[in-house]
Amino acid sequence: MLVTGLLIGAAAGATGAPAATTDADRIERGLKIAPVRLNLKGLSRDLVGLGSYIVNTQGGCNDCHTNPPFADGGNPFLGQPKRVKKSRYLAGGTPFGPGVVSANLTPDANGRPAGLTLGQFVDVIRTGRDPDDPSRLLQVMPWPVYQDMRYDDLKAVYTYLRAIPSIPPP
Ligand code: HEC
Repeated sequence: MLVTGLLIGAAAGATGAPAATTDADRIERGLKIAPVRLNLKGLSRDLVGLGSYIVNTQGGCNDCHTNPPFADGGNPFLGQPKRVKKSRYLAGGTPFGPGVVSANLTPDANGRPAGLTLGQFVDVIRTGRDPDDPSRLLQVMPWPVYQDMRYDDLKAVYTYLRAIPSIPPP
């Protein structure tokens, strides 16, 4: 078994190049594609970049937490070149049925995304418990998917949310 593993490993090493993408690639791309101006003051540039990569290429947070997700003339579903609705970026307010409205994820007056500390944020994503009422589970929000993210990736998402512009409710 061990020998087979070594042989396969050796063969892969001989033919295959190392993994094509690294965290550094994701960080740079994340910083490049962020749809809003970021405030990196006091924040780790690497965590912000990686968080942007996760939020904007994989998490799909914009689809539900920006209302509407796209600017006039910038809706890819209408064949238009993608332009996110910057003035409402991740500020929530999308209704999904009785009692279920997406939350404002932008930093509050204390710089806390959705008003949550990092610990509270991680707890919400891991458990789906509504921070305002822990006996209630968040609906629609894909926490059953995100809950398996590495802690460092959740921290990156949180740090990115700290860097985006704060937007008050409409
Ligand atoms: C399919 C739609 C959808 C997507 C995609 C989505 N969310 Fe949500 N999210 C919601 C809805 C709806 C709520 C409120 C649910 C409720 O109150 O039952 C919510 C609630 C939350 C909350 C709880 C905030 C609070 O204070 O109550 C956090 C944090 C959150 N979302 C973060 C995220 C992040 C980060 C992403 C992307 C990685 C994301 N969401 C993607 C729909 C979504």
